[in-house]
Amino acid sequence: MSVDVNTAPPAALGHGEQWPLVPGAELAAGPSGPARLSPLIGTAVEALAAGIAERGGPAPARAPEELAERVRDALGWVLPDTGTGSHEALDRLSRMLAAGSVDPADPACAAHLHCPPLAVAVAAEVVSAALNPSLDSWDQAPAATTVETEVIAALARLTGYRPDRAAGVLTGGGTESNLMGMALARDAALRQHAGTEPAYDGVGGAGYRLRIFCSAAAHFSVQRNAALLGLGEASVTAVPVDDRHRMDPAALARALEQCTGIPAMIVATAGTTDLGAIDPLPEIAEIAAEYRVWLHTDGAYGGGALLSGALAPLLDGIERSDSVALDLHKLGWQPIASGVFLAADGNTLEPLARRVAYLNPADDEDAGYDGLLGRSLRTTRRADAFKIAVTMRALGRSGLGELVERCHALARYAAEQIEAHPALELAAHPTLTTVAFRYRAFGRPDRVNAELRRRLLRSGRAVVGRTELFGAVWLKLTLLNPHASETDIDAVINEIVMAGTEEDG
Ligand SMILES: Cc1ncc(COP(=O)(O)O)c(C=O)c1O
Repeated sequence: MSVDVNTAPPAALGHGEQWPLVPGAELAAGPSGPARLSPLIGTAVEALAAGIAERGGPAPARAPEELAERVRDALGWVLPDTGTGSHEALDRLSRMLAAGSVDPADPACAAHLHCPPLAVAVAAEVVSAALNPSLDSWDQAPAATTVETEVIAALARLTGYRPDRAAGVLTGGGTESNLMGMALARDAALRQHAGTEPAYDGVGGAGYRLRIFCSAAAHFSVQRNAALLGLGEASVTAVPVDDRHRMDPAALARALEQCTGIPAMIVATAGTTDLGAIDPLPEIAEIAAEYRVWLHTDGAYGGGALLSGALAPLLDGIERSDSVALDLHKLGWQPIASGVFLAADGNTLEPLARRVAYLNPADDEDAGYDGLLGRSLRTTRRADAFKIAVTMRALGRSGLGELVERCHALARYAAEQIEAHPALELAAHPTLTTVAFRYRAFGRPDRVNAELRRRLLRSGRAVVGRTELFGAVWLKLTLLNPHASETDIDAVINEIVMAGTEEDG
């Protein structure tokens, strides 16, 4: 039916047609939603292009306060008394955001595990945002519930788990996935040791002196999660690493032998944030089995290597972990958030189970209206699995594997160039897609390297990472853009050397 919704009285509207109560209040779905959404998407995409062109490089060439001033200018009162309408607001603020963002799709933006999302995944995100499924109950997400279940099963297979036994959930990222693994490990340890120690005090096991073991190069979320779980940061033992940042299994065994409390979990890392180091998973799995300790593997970064037939063997042994964190918003080209938590045995998720009258009453569940509430720490939860499903179908494992291999090849190329450059020093040969190195300054190398990175950021020429290794400041390229070329890498290295010369001069 053809109705001019701007003039027709509500009585003339068909089922689900929208009456424009307030300009800008059009809905994204429903029978007439897509028709309302389409021109707005057009405006947003045009403004995105304009903002990217205005920026003209990988980062806004502005100092932080100057950029903040521009953002405040564009925002105005933020909440004006009278709205400006959808197109004006979208156009103005999308341009501002694009112009003021660092752009991981620019080859010279290579600092963090912050990937450029694939266009197909972003388009899929529009569909799930419009429908807004929420995974906490079946009646809010009938199809999305099965999409997530099947995506989890596919990722479990990729990890080497038995999909009929494994279970998991989409999370906000590696931090949350590690928290889930650590929470379940804590609960398993409490069950295993019930009665052998003072009673559980209800605060998170403080009475039990539970102990956590991870490598000295593990992600900081292990300590933070230990604190959140009531175990305290001091419950974490940082096991020494070798010169390539891999956990030393002999040192792990010694630490477990000498443990004064109850060893509750080992957190192995498959891909450390800085060097991409992969702990020796088979040896660690042996030790975990010997000491009957939960093994959680943080594959937030390196888990992406499972997509590549050539690189997956680097993660051999991951399938022996009790739980795994993966992050497809790192080496998976998904928009944030695309975290994944997997448990080898779905029964271990039992402590998360909840029966909530308004979400999953038992008779609904018996009748097949079974939601995913009991798998997550959250209640309302986005259908992040949808964009992953669309991407997986569109590219297949071989396509995604090629992207991983391309980034890996770029990292090796960058390392070769850096190693051969007289002004640069390589920290270690890359395992995955990061390259750590520094500018050989004549004096005060830490200051020069730190300053040169800020100089590049301020001028908008490149976004380069910075970290500390072996007690000094190092720079880092995190190469997640499969479309970058060797020439792009040469150009970034050239910018870094120029900025180093300017700072060191
Ligand atoms: C090894 C590792 N684990 C966990 C995380 C945390 O992931 P997220 O930022 O998605 O929470 C990161 C982040 O860089 C990481 O590198």
